[in-house]
Amino acid sequence: MTEFDELYREVILDHYKNPRGHGVIERADAVAEGQNPLCGDEVSIFVSFDGDAIEDVKFRGRGCAISQAATSMLMEMIKGRSAQEVADMSRDELLDEVGIPLTPVRLKCALLGLGVLKVALHRAKGTPLPEEWASLASELELT
Ligand code: FES
Repeated sequence: MTEFDELYREVILDHYKNPRGHGVIERADAVAEGQNPLCGDEVSIFVSFDGDAIEDVKFRGRGCAISQAATSMLMEMIKGRSAQEVADMSRDELLDEVGIPLTPVRLKCALLGLGVLKVALHRAKGTPLPEEWASLASELELT
């Protein structure tokens, strides 16, 4: 393992142990949840808007370090951004933040939170769910 990988692992563990934006927003403007049917892990995301901008976002869930840490990272990345901007956000933007190479199964873990978030925005703001997410949505059981 390189020094870089080691560093990323530490960052992931820190997010897992001290998740940012963990909790629930009462009377959220948008809510969605999803699970990885392979393992049963879950993420729920709550969003409140100020106009079109994401004013606050929180999540709760349970699952592996990657799914929870990636969702925690996501919370920090999207505050203040517009719903459309986040709807357009690519998987790679989040995966770059996660920073370590992932196996296909782990990749689904890492993308669970982002998929759930896109569904929440889609519901509340009518932002499109890109095609790459439509297939993932069925694999991840996003509701
Ligand atoms: Fe379930 Fe990672 S093992 S989300």
